[in-house]
Amino acid sequence: KLKIAIVGSGSTYTPELIEGIIKRKGVLPVSELVLMDIDERKLNVVGSLCRRMIEAENLSCRVTLTQDLDEALRDADFVLAQIRVGKLSARVLDEKIPLKYGLIGQETCGIGGFFKAMRTIPVMLQIAERMQELCPNAWLINFSNPAGIITEALLKHTGVKMLGLCNVPYNMYKSIRETLALPDAKMTYVGLNHLSWITAIEHDGKDYLKTALELGLNSEAMKNIPSSGFSRELVNMVGAIPSSYLEYYYFKDKKLKLLMESEQTRGEKCIGIEADLLRIYEDAELHVKPELLSSRGGANYSEVAISLVDAIWNDKREVHVVNLLNRGALEFMEDDDAVEVSAVIGKDGAVPVAVPGFANRHIIDYMRMVKAYERETVAAAVSGSEDAAMRALLMNPLVGDYNTALSCFGELKEAHKAYLPQF
Ligand code: G6P
Ligand code: MN
Ligand code: MN
Repeated sequence: KLKIAIVGSGSTYTPELIEGIIKRKGVLPVSELVLMDIDERKLNVVGSLCRRMIEAENLSCRVTLTQDLDEALRDADFVLAQIRVGKLSARVLDEKIPLKYGLIGQETCGIGGFFKAMRTIPVMLQIAERMQELCPNAWLINFSNPAGIITEALLKHTGVKMLGLCNVPYNMYKSIRETLALPDAKMTYVGLNHLSWITAIEHDGKDYLKTALELGLNSEAMKNIPSSGFSRELVNMVGAIPSSYLEYYYFKDKKLKLLMESEQTRGEKCIGIEADLLRIYEDAELHVKPELLSSRGGANYSEVAISLVDAIWNDKREVHVVNLLNRGALEFMEDDDAVEVSAVIGKDGAVPVAVPGFANRHIIDYMRMVKAYERETVAAAVSGSEDAAMRALLMNPLVGDYNTALSCFGELKEAHKAYLPQF
């Protein structure tokens, strides 16, 4: 018996996950799927499509729709969490308000991502607590952003078994393998979520990082980041291939200018895409994932999530890049820092793969600085300490200035007050 619960099933991304479950029906015999969301309309529209997808494939899997968290969690084997506290309209505030202060407005980086963490951590802690009672042996696989910070909060403050996921590593591997025409190149991936680099590429005992750097090879193209791309000079200076989220850091001024000039924020665009998708999903004849979903940033999201479930359930001992506690894998990080690195995944959990002797000083120092931000962010989210919040924002390379941070913090706190129980 394999029960999967999806918390936040009203997300228009859910058909992605269903597609992944269908693809693996031979190896992953899901007997019960519970779709849970607090938004009744979205739950019904998205849930009905998911049901039709499963029926069209004749899976012998019971599909239940519920607004009750406990019902979803009870006896689950896997809980997939993809929540967005305050929905897309809260995201738009995270994107727009910082721009008034000359700060980057983005949903996971900078002060916008900080507030997303403040809203999401209390809810995720509550989900983890309910899991301890209703399905203590289940795995929590979390996509909710900011995924790295949520991982750190849950693994430091609860006993839940969990892994944090993002599609960036998968997309980076895919695009580098395609560009170099080396389908089974081995890579070293080092970083925090949305702050990561490919630091080694190897194939048949040969080192291809140099080749990649000389090509000025760029990271994955993400649908949600209008990519300007890194120059050959930049990747050589860094000595590694940065993920596209590094554009917010390395091109901070240019990004800010682009964000200020654009008519709509990414969240506003997503509100439009979501409305269109829900209309399409309502068509009772539809029983596959529609093409329009690929205009969102979550490409290959189902592959990443469901292959991970497969690796755990079938004890595959495969290597996946996930967010988990460092436990010595990177010597320059603390053991209890959440990091995004390769890990061997099987039924007993995930063991991070050590990267001995890692010596790229730029990456080491950048990760340590952003981790200092993330640690204080978790402390602020849990305690409601505004001093911790300020210490966090002073360490964030996209914020940094005390007076600006204080004013912008005040306005965002007011705007989101319905979702900030800690403050
Ligand atoms: C990528 C990131 C996710 C993020 C998404 C945003 O997939 O890895 O963490 O949630 O993009 O895409 P959106 O379409 O919502 O802008
Ligand atoms: Mn079971
Ligand atoms: Mn991500």
